Formats: sequence, C-alpha cells, structure tokens
Amino acid sequence: MNKINVAVAGLGRIGKIHLKNLCRNFPEIKVIAVMDVMDESKAIAEEFNVPNFTKDFDELLATPDLDAVVICSPTDTHADFVVKAAKAGKQIFCEKPLDLSLDRVQEVLKIVEETGVKLMLGFNRRFDPEFKKIRQLVVNDAVGDPQIVKITSRDPGPPPVSYVKVSGGMFLDMTIHDFDMARYISGKQVKEVFAKAAVKVDPEIGEAGDVDTAVITLTFEDDSLAVIDNCRKAVYGYDQRLEVFGSKGMAQAENNFPNNHKLFTENGISGDLPLHFFLERYDASYNLEIREFIDALVNNEDMPVDGTDGLMSIAIGLAAKKSVDEGRPVALTEILS
Ligand SMILES: NC(=O)c1ccc[n+]([C@@H]2O[C@H](COP(=O)([O-])OP(=O)(O)OC[C@H]3O[C@@H](n4cnc5c(N)ncnc54)[C@H](O)[C@@H]3O)[C@@H](O)[C@H]2O)c1
Repeated sequence: MNKINVAVAGLGRIGKIHLKNLCRNFPEIKVIAVMDVMDESKAIAEEFNVPNFTKDFDELLATPDLDAVVICSPTDTHADFVVKAAKAGKQIFCEKPLDLSLDRVQEVLKIVEETGVKLMLGFNRRFDPEFKKIRQLVVNDAVGDPQIVKITSRDPGPPPVSYVKVSGGMFLDMTIHDFDMARYISGKQVKEVFAKAAVKVDPEIGEAGDVDTAVITLTFEDDSLAVIDNCRKAVYGYDQRLEVFGSKGMAQAENNFPNNHKLFTENGISGDLPLHFFLERYDASYNLEIREFIDALVNNEDMPVDGTDGLMSIAIGLAAKKSVDEGRPVALTEILS
C-alpha cells in the first residue's frame, strides 16, 4: 500500500506534538512538508527529517502527492486553511476551535461537505485512556442511564493577558474541551446552558473582557445534567477530573500523577502534584487521536470527531457567554436558529 503523505501547518506547542507523533509512530504515513511563518521553525523540519519547509500555506498545499494536512496554526487561521485544504481535495485534521464565529463555522462545514473531504477536529480529551474507559463504561451500561456528568477542569495558571484578548474568551478557548467531553461521555445532546462566572484570578483578565472562574450547568435533551467547574488557576496544578453518576452507579476518573506513591507521617499524607499541564497530562491522547485520524483515512471511515462536534461545542460556548451576560439559562436553539 502506498504511504499517506501528510503535511503539518503551525509548529508551535501543539504542532510539535502532532509532528513528533506523526513522524515516530505511524509507519503507514510520511510527513512530506511542514509550514510555519517563523524562520526558526525550519530547524524543526530538519530535526524530523521532513524534506519540505515553507512559510506559505498555498505552497504547502501544492506539495506534490500530498494527501492530508494537519492544521495546528493559531485559531484565526483555521477556517481559511480548512477551506483552502478542502478545495484542494486534501483530508484534514484541524485543531480546535474551527473558528470563533458560528456563521463562519457553518460556512466552512458546508464547503467541506461539498468537497467530500474528511475533517477531524482536535478534541483530544476523547482519546485520553481514562476518559475513554469512562465512556466505554457508559456505553456498556455499567452506570446505567447517565443522570449527572461532573467535570472539573482547572488550569495550573492563566495564560498571558495578550493571549486572553485574542482567545475568544475562556468558554471558547478552555471550556470548549469540557463542552465536548460532556457530549461525548453522556452520548447526549445539550438543549440548555446556564453559566455563572467571575474574575477571581487576575483583574486584568476582567479588564480584557473575560472571566477566569465559572460553573456551567448543561441540560441534555432528556433533562439529565452536566456540571462543569472551571478556573484559570489551581495552585496545586492541572486539575482534570470527571464523574458520571447514573441509575446503576457511578464512574470516576481522578487526576493523573507522575507517580502514585504517597508518604504517610505523623504530620499527614503527601504525594506528588498532578501532571503539570496539557502537554504532559494529555500526552497519550494526542498520539491516540492522530492514530484514529490516520486509521479513518487508511480504512476510509468516518472521522471520530467531526465538524458537527466542532460546531456544537462552539454553540454551547456562545450560549454560556450569553447566559453570563444576561443572567439566565439560554436554550441552544437561541444560538443555532
Ligand atoms: N487540543 C489541544 O489540547 C490544544 C492545545 C493547545 C492549543 N490548541 C490549539 O492549537 C492551535 C495552536 O496553539 P498553540 O498552543 O500550539 O500555539 P503556539 O502559539 O504555541 O503555536 C502557533 C504556531 O503557529 C505559527 N503561526 C502563526 N501564524 C501562522 C500562520 N498564518 N500559518 C502557519 N503558522 C502560523 C506560529 O509561528 C507558531 O509556531 C490553537 O488553535 C489552539 O487553540 C489545542
């Protein structure tokens, strides 16, 4: 079988992770080109023996025999790059979010559908082995019908305010993963969003028009619930826990730690802090999501996270924003109509 030829656009934090996984873990593909606007990124191409480096996305797409592109550039480039790649007939993996505007996301998805290429969105937490196991327990009816999904998602520290200003806000930048997890774990669709939020970490985040602390209640179509609690700063590190409570029981995923030993003394019990941030905590998930992207290409199957998943998480995020602004529950139909 011929190898699938892949290109990667954007070689920052997440681009380097995907490039490393693509180059080291998948004999059925070959990374034939990378692009980034920074000259320094050429060294990354050399480090991974990628034969072509360019600073221009059109040039990247024009690489002979290119089959698929992995888009890891900043959020404001995603929609344009996805449209260009789709029109060029390339299969696409795109980091989240597809865009911050729902209209633009809908427009892009229509174009993707018309071209018939496959599109996968980078909601990596679905591929975390612990969370995947919880989903499997739900699918196997081990917890019965899910009644409450509880997601705790707190970062070790806030991003720079310069990033906050262009991020689309906490709900579209950070909670977007939790919205996707709530849908994925429960297997249900959200009908209403009620969010309360505050600025408790850094007043500058508030001055930039964003929030840093929030509790969001999602109501699914069958009236079951999800509760998400978020904060941009947890002094003890990256706090990523998940629970599903159902008619037959409960399933929980705790934080992951660098090791599991604990010290017990007369002063108390101590152990390591959770794995520090997303690159460490979700390392396995990044590899497994790209594995499933490649498998879907090789086997010509549907993508495990598709454009509609991308659209729904953005719609829920916009509903959460509106709920905070207007101090009331917001039906998803108000956003998607
Ligand atoms: N799924 C996840 O867990 C996850 C984690 C982090 C970031 N992300 C997403 O990935 C994207 C990138 O985030 P990051 O943290 O890697 O950012 P980053 O700032 O670390 O890297 C971005 C890279 O893109 C390059 N770049 C800038 N403009 C470009 C352009 N026009 N074309 C190509 N490259 C360009 C920059 O030079 C830089 O190397 C964002 O959309 C973000 O939301 C997803």
